[in-house]
Amino acid sequence: MASVAPSVLAADFTQLGDEIASINALGIELLHLDIMDGHFVPNISFGPGIVGHIDRLTDAFLDVHLMLSEPERYYEAFARAGADSLTIHIEVHPDPRPQWPQIRQHGCRCGLSLNPSTPVDDIVPFLDDVDFVLVMSVEPGFGGQSFLPVALDKIREVRQVIAERGLSAQIQVDGGVSLENAGACIEAGADILIMGTQFFRARERKTLLEQIDQLASAREG
Ligand code: DX5
Ligand code: ZN
Repeated sequence: MASVAPSVLAADFTQLGDEIASINALGIELLHLDIMDGHFVPNISFGPGIVGHIDRLTDAFLDVHLMLSEPERYYEAFARAGADSLTIHIEVHPDPRPQWPQIRQHGCRCGLSLNPSTPVDDIVPFLDDVDFVLVMSVEPGFGGQSFLPVALDKIREVRQVIAERGLSAQIQVDGGVSLENAGACIEAGADILIMGTQFFRARERKTLLEQIDQLASAREG
């Protein structure tokens, strides 16, 4: 069943320990960590040091989204810090195949992401080798943006390729995901709903997760 993965970028970093404790208490199994270099995207977030602190606070799977122009320089550092998967962008490595052994040698799973303006055709040749396909539903760089519906068609396209080829990659959707569009994302074929602002600002996080579970049960039958 589709699940929610909080994007820690939207957490209150002055209370990071409490934020992660709240996530642990909710039984969340996957955390999304956005790494931005101020070059591939016009913003800077955090690095391996913070990932290491988070890793010490949780047993959740750490899904690290590398919005970096030269991600390969940092695979080892993020893996050592506790990353369980490393996702790179097709816009950075149009042929990402040489990256996978470099990522896997550090014990991490591999993810491939595409921006809203990048066609699914660009990633199709490489889907056999990835564990995660990260469909961006905003221009990467900032949390709190509005969901771009173009992502829904892209999720459908990726889902179709995965089904046709019998692949095991999971589809993630990232950016502006909310209770309002979660059902459409699940219906289109998303497995993992990455939620930053909507999760961390929810009055009742548990209720939000329950509402999304209900949507998933209804849509997935
Ligand atoms: C955007 C990031 C997203 C972002 C999602 O560049 O990749 O993970 O944190 O946050 P919201 O849910 O606030 O759009
Ligand atoms: Zn992200």
